Amino acid sequence: MLQSRDRITSVNTPLPGPNSKALLERWSEAEAQTFGFQAPVAWQSAQGVIVHDVDGNVFIDWTSGVLVANVGHCHPRLVEAVREAAGKILNCYEYANEYRVAAAEALVQTTPEHLDRCFFLSTGSEATEQAIRLMKRYTGCFEIVGFHGAFHGRTPGAAGVGGMSMPKKGYGPPIAGAIHAPYPYCYRCAFKSTPEKCGLMCLEFLDEVVRANSCGSLAGVLAEPYLGTAGFIFPPDGWLTELERWARAHGIMFSLDEVQSSYGRTGKMWAMEWENVTPDIVCLGKGIGSGVPTSAVLMKSSVVGALGPGEMSSTAGGNPLSSAAVIAVLEVMKSERLPDNARKIGNMMKECLTWIAEQSRCVGDVRGKGLVMGLEIVADKNTKEPTPELAKEIIVRCANNGLLVGRVGIFGNVIRVGPPLVINEEEAEESLDIMEGVLLSL
Ligand SMILES: Cc1ncc(COP(=O)(O)O)c(C=O)c1O
Repeated sequence: MLQSRDRITSVNTPLPGPNSKALLERWSEAEAQTFGFQAPVAWQSAQGVIVHDVDGNVFIDWTSGVLVANVGHCHPRLVEAVREAAGKILNCYEYANEYRVAAAEALVQTTPEHLDRCFFLSTGSEATEQAIRLMKRYTGCFEIVGFHGAFHGRTPGAAGVGGMSMPKKGYGPPIAGAIHAPYPYCYRCAFKSTPEKCGLMCLEFLDEVVRANSCGSLAGVLAEPYLGTAGFIFPPDGWLTELERWARAHGIMFSLDEVQSSYGRTGKMWAMEWENVTPDIVCLGKGIGSGVPTSAVLMKSSVVGALGPGEMSSTAGGNPLSSAAVIAVLEVMKSERLPDNARKIGNMMKECLTWIAEQSRCVGDVRGKGLVMGLEIVADKNTKEPTPELAKEIIVRCANNGLLVGRVGIFGNVIRVGPPLVINEEEAEESLDIMEGVLLSL
């Protein structure tokens, strides 16, 4: 155990502190809230991996917002770039300006060579919605294959192709042409198999799904390299490569939603680099602005060729302020070698979390790559019964001890391990120490 005088974090328990409590109350009376469960903490400022609340408490952050602050909260280079742009120009829509052009150049220079065009938008949902539109427009077909558990956003196309009920339930029929197939969730395999013996049965089942559901107008497939919102569910190695092979064999487009998985999160700049794939379209969001709202779609120039004037446009997409952020984030990713740090610290953290899980009675699975890992919380390791209430308890106990974590999952029972990629060994050790104390006390 670390001595208290050595610690980075300090919390005057119990939370919420008086100022957080007052702010949370004011907030609930002003803004319509349907948020998920959070610890009762009102943030005042955040730098790197450290969050200060309005009561003077200091936390280590494993949320990165919601996997957004990849370069760390308020990275000085990013803050400076945004300040400078804001002092010059905030919006010029589709007129050329140096920030937007330089951002586009920097982005396409960083992506795999075949993705030689980008287009800027503002949110991840817009990026996935645009990818769906592009696949339809390019092929002249309208069916999109998506996956059980996938989350692509809350707009109609994104929600419809996604495979979670949360953004769809109560909103009437989803978009026409969305066809869904099982994603390999190996801890809870739909086929009651194991990765060792299944031979990627999920992929074989794709043919069956398409045979039963397609009316002969397949445009493409949209997949997350790992399921994020569904609970950081990673497919077995080779699955993505085989999925592209399947798409090519059917003569349809292959698109990836890297809104969450890119920008070093998995220990490589792009999650697609872990596999041998050449997607036609890739969606980006979250880390691309690392706190400044922006998103993008990457594509081959041939895809853009299918579009006419005005078909792809957005009021705020590519605005100078966001573009300055895109440039600064890419510079920081490279100069600070953040994908390498994510891999190094991520390996260390995963090893430690795996050990903690073995000692604990409630962590059924530890999975992930780089600095995106999930701890699946269960009532019983044999029955694997999900316990969202215990996950909430863990969030509160962690916060009271100086660690901010969130939860995701189809059942709401997966603790998110997703710190900013600038986390160092000392911060990782202290936060693991807190997590160990909480999990082993349950
Ligand atoms: C993989 C993925 N795609 C799309 C989105 C939607 O992004 P946004 O909330 O910025 O619209 C998310 C958000 O969590 C996501 O994780």
